[in-house]
Amino acid sequence: MVHRGVPPPAYVRRRHHFAVTDAGSGQLLGTVGLKKTDWPTRVSEVGYWSAPWARGRGVTAEATRALGEWLLGEQGFQRLQLFAATGNTASQRVAEKAGFQREGILRNAGYVHAGLVDLFVFSLVPGDLEELTQRGPAAMSRALVVHWSWHGEGDGAAVAGGG
Ligand SMILES: CC(C)(COP(=O)(O)OP(=O)(O)OC[C@H]1O[C@@H](n2cnc3c(N)ncnc32)[C@H](O)[C@@H]1OP(=O)(O)O)[C@@H](O)C(=O)NCCC(=O)NCCS
Repeated sequence: MVHRGVPPPAYVRRRHHFAVTDAGSGQLLGTVGLKKTDWPTRVSEVGYWSAPWARGRGVTAEATRALGEWLLGEQGFQRLQLFAATGNTASQRVAEKAGFQREGILRNAGYVHAGLVDLFVFSLVPGDLEELTQRGPAAMSRALVVHWSWHGEGDGAAVAGGG
């Protein structure tokens, strides 16, 4: 999946996309993705989207947390960062529920359909995982499967198993 030690080829190096599906039905619920990965520092950025029929059920927070646990806990990454427009409260709640810490505001740093916006920057680092673990699986349903793929290829490994 994400290669440790030996980086993958350039064409897969900076972006990885994951499909989030219901563990029972297999229905597509959303996506999470890694972008702007910096291999020397082991830092990446997460972005996400959830399907209209899946919103408000904690799907994106759970998938983002699963991705963070996998990346920082198993793949040796040191920082997963997340940017949310200051007006996007739902996205900020996803970051908080997934265990990210709010670090500050980047002014005029993002562009949405309404135009230029300020962005909150959040991060998750390995030390945050212990607190996540203490919050425990009870906080989240683990009823998702997060599949990886890139550029529309592949169907492979699950980051977080369901059930
Ligand atoms: C942002 C988005 C990914 C959230 O997905 P989701 O699966 O509904 O997220 P979750 O259910 O895990 O959590 C959503 C939280 O935001 C809250 N929320 C949702 N809409 C809201 C709104 N308009 N105002 C305030 N809070 C809102 C929910 O109540 C929930 O918080 P809670 O659990 O404390 O009640 C989804 O709305 C989406 O795809 N939006 C369009 C794309 C986007 O904005 N991507 C992020 C770019 S940074």
